Amino acid sequence: MTLLANTEETIAWGRELAISLQAGDVIALVGNLGAGKTHATKGVVAGLGATAQVSSPTFTLVHEYIGGRLPIFHFDFYRLESAEEVIGIGWDDYLDASGIIIVEWADRFADLMPAHSQWYRFAVTDDGARSVEKML
Ligand SMILES: Nc1ncnc2c1ncn2[C@@H]1O[C@H](COP(=O)(O)OP(=O)(O)OP(=O)(O)O)[C@@H](O)[C@H]1O
Ligand SMILES: [Mg+2]
Repeated sequence: MTLLANTEETIAWGRELAISLQAGDVIALVGNLGAGKTHATKGVVAGLGATAQVSSPTFTLVHEYIGGRLPIFHFDFYRLESAEEVIGIGWDDYLDASGIIIVEWADRFADLMPAHSQWYRFAVTDDGARSVEKML
């Protein structure tokens, strides 16, 4: 369990995670509303050195960041109604794209997540900070 004392530390955690990421890695982020998943993702994007966000027809459902060491495909399953909808926006193609996939609320459609996904749980602590731990 890692304590994240403020927003900057949440972003820094994502930057640190980015160092070890390899093409094809899938990051599954779990945790309540406001637990820090998006800020951790910002850190990963920054850590990989991405310089541009690509808008696609599905840009409200998947955000693509390019220009860094690896492309990043950022999903938020909270906004998606069903596993079928995720598949419909090209999930399998993203998995095959040799980039990094980061999914907020991955537990909503856990069956879609590949076996090699790295799962992390974020939480709000009693004092209003955040914590993150790797799930098994
Ligand atoms: N370690 C921290 N301590 C205190 N506040 C934090 C910390 N990390 C992030 N925050 C703040 O928490 C708020 C929510 O963060 P964020 O949007 O990343 O959460 P989220 O898990 O993505 O939420 P959602 O489930 O709604 O997508 C932001 O205002 C952010 O600044
Ligand atoms: Mg979020």
